[in-house]
Amino acid sequence: MKRLLLYSAVVSASLGLSVGAWAVSDPPPTADDQAQIEFLKRHWQTPIPLQGRPPAHFSPMEASLDAEGCAVCHRAQYEDWGSSLHSKSMGPGVRGQTMELIHDDPKTALRCYGCHAPLTEQQEKSVDTGSRPSIFKRHRTFLASPPGVPPNEADAALKLKRNHAFSASLQQKGLACAGCHVRGHQRFGPPKRDGSLENAAPAAQLPHGGAIRTAAFERAEFCKGCHQFERDGYALNGKLLENTYNEWKEGPYAQDGKTCQSCHMPERRHLWRGIHDPEMVKHGVSVHLALDKARYQVGEQVRAEITLANTGVGHHFPTYVTPKIVIRWELVDADGKRVNESMQEERIGREVTLDLTQELFDTRIAPGKSHAVRYARTIDRTGLTLRASVVVVPDDFYIQFFEAVLPKAKTHEAKALLEQAIREGRARSFSLFTQSVVIS
Ligand code: HEC
Ligand code: HEC
Ligand code: HEC
Ligand code: HEC
Ligand code: HEC
Repeated sequence: MKRLLLYSAVVSASLGLSVGAWAVSDPPPTADDQAQIEFLKRHWQTPIPLQGRPPAHFSPMEASLDAEGCAVCHRAQYEDWGSSLHSKSMGPGVRGQTMELIHDDPKTALRCYGCHAPLTEQQEKSVDTGSRPSIFKRHRTFLASPPGVPPNEADAALKLKRNHAFSASLQQKGLACAGCHVRGHQRFGPPKRDGSLENAAPAAQLPHGGAIRTAAFERAEFCKGCHQFERDGYALNGKLLENTYNEWKEGPYAQDGKTCQSCHMPERRHLWRGIHDPEMVKHGVSVHLALDKARYQVGEQVRAEITLANTGVGHHFPTYVTPKIVIRWELVDADGKRVNESMQEERIGREVTLDLTQELFDTRIAPGKSHAVRYARTIDRTGLTLRASVVVVPDDFYIQFFEAVLPKAKTHEAKALLEQAIREGRARSFSLFTQSVVIS
């Protein structure tokens, strides 16, 4: 439990949902930029306040916060979203932890929900408004206590109460349509494809009264609150634990106007493919195997090199501490058996200890950069094949973490969920590259 809580505390520190966008070196923001950033600050206050009572003229379908309600009219987005990880953000690994946290340490559980199930309607408990001076204050205090540090006074003073609007089925849907698009039953969305901000007809004639459109939906800052720790958030070796937005901002894509949406929502599709998707990874990374000779005599040394290049990932490859890329070499004899001691493995990624107190190494690859791994062995017989492979383990950290916390789970249900998460995590590994070359 201690480990689990330490991890929890660390992760929760990020939840400032900060969406500010300017570095000192940037040109000054325009009035439009400023208005969009202000919009995003309001939009991403988490937990997202209760939607309240829907307008009287809304049909039950328009009033529903459920993705299935939206699906009736927005089928394409619904199907894409259903295949994405945003629809699985309350999967077994998260639930296996939050279902106990919500009783043992409810404030931390609410912080997890801030990114994984952000509507108040998705949360068992809510902040007692009487204990909270203002929405803005809540945003600044409740969510801002640094990692490992006990909650500050304002945090401690906050009272939680049972949330009568809680829906368990809505919670299971994770980050669904309403989390990004609905506030106070009003729909918000991007400009029309032609750039215009008007609705197709007067609001009164449209389902759910049309939508308020803003270019804020097309900005990287829209994604920032959940995919970037705050400046004073948890860091190891001087680097924030979650730093995707900054990596993007400092890289070549931000300058070229390629946002998170350009790569993760092409044609506005709601796919959000990432490290779990072999095609997405193959698009972003190239792998090249080189040998110094075509054939080797017995007694000679085979020298080989694999180069992994980040040719199309908008941030470090991989960006988080959780995935690993494993480069594996081995020599195989004429019977297909591995030659003793010929196996060599190297891991690419940012490896941290399970309690997140130490960074062991950081070999992630920045945009436009590459990383080479070498192999050398003396050939001791004929008929050898060199086999080289690159395997992606998207949930490497989580698998180990769940294995470590499993014995501490108190209920059968939490245990079963963590076991399921371990199984699913293992099944998500895939091969990015394999090549076998006959060398002697
Ligand atoms: C009864 C049908 C219906 C339902 C249900 C519905 N919508 Fe819509 N929605 C529409 C129509 C029609 C428009 C287009 C309005 C226009 O052209 O100005 C629209 C527009 C939007 C827009 C603006 C972007 C765009 O495509 O014009 C967003 C965002 C949106 N809806 C989100 C949602 C979400 C989220 C839900 C569920 C919580 C939902 N809608 C439920 C019919 C519906
Ligand atoms: C993680 C946040 C997020 C979630 C979850 C989400 N959307 Fe969106 N949605 C966006 C963003 C961002 C855009 C604008 C993308 C762009 O402009 O490149 C968008 C665009 C849209 C549009 C306009 C599409 C167009 O072609 O103009 C509609 C309609 C829409 N979303 C409906 C939905 C529905 C329905 C769901 C649930 C099934 C959903 N969204 C879930 C973030 C989200
Ligand atoms: C409210 C918080 C929130 C917002 C806003 C958000 N995300 Fe996410 N995103 C998450 C969470 C949580 C996950 C992890 C889901 C899981 O696997 O449990 C995730 C997963 C992803 C993944 C999948 C990564 C993988 O491991 O394969 C991608 C890609 C992604 N988000 C991109 C985006 C982009 C682009 C935007 C902005 C348009 C965005 N997200 C906005 C919370 C958010
Ligand atoms: C700042 C937003 C944020 C907060 C707060 C947050 N997470 Fe996440 N979480 C993410 C993102 C983004 C991912 C996907 C990237 C990754 O794999 O690290 C993720 C992935 C995960 C995963 C692995 C994917 C899965 O569905 O199994 C688990 C488990 C998880 N989080 C648990 C938690 C718990 C428990 C808390 C609270 C202690 C928490 N998270 C708080 C953003 C957040
Ligand atoms: C130039 C295209 C591009 C841009 C821009 C881009 N990404 Fe990615 N992203 C990728 C590719 C390709 C992958 C798959 C390889 C990988 O996981 O690094 C990926 C992976 C991810 C993942 C999976 C987790 C991981 O450890 O890699 C997340 C989360 C993510 N991106 C979020 C974002 C966010 C948030 C932004 C904007 C700040 C963004 N991306 C900008 C191409 C892009």
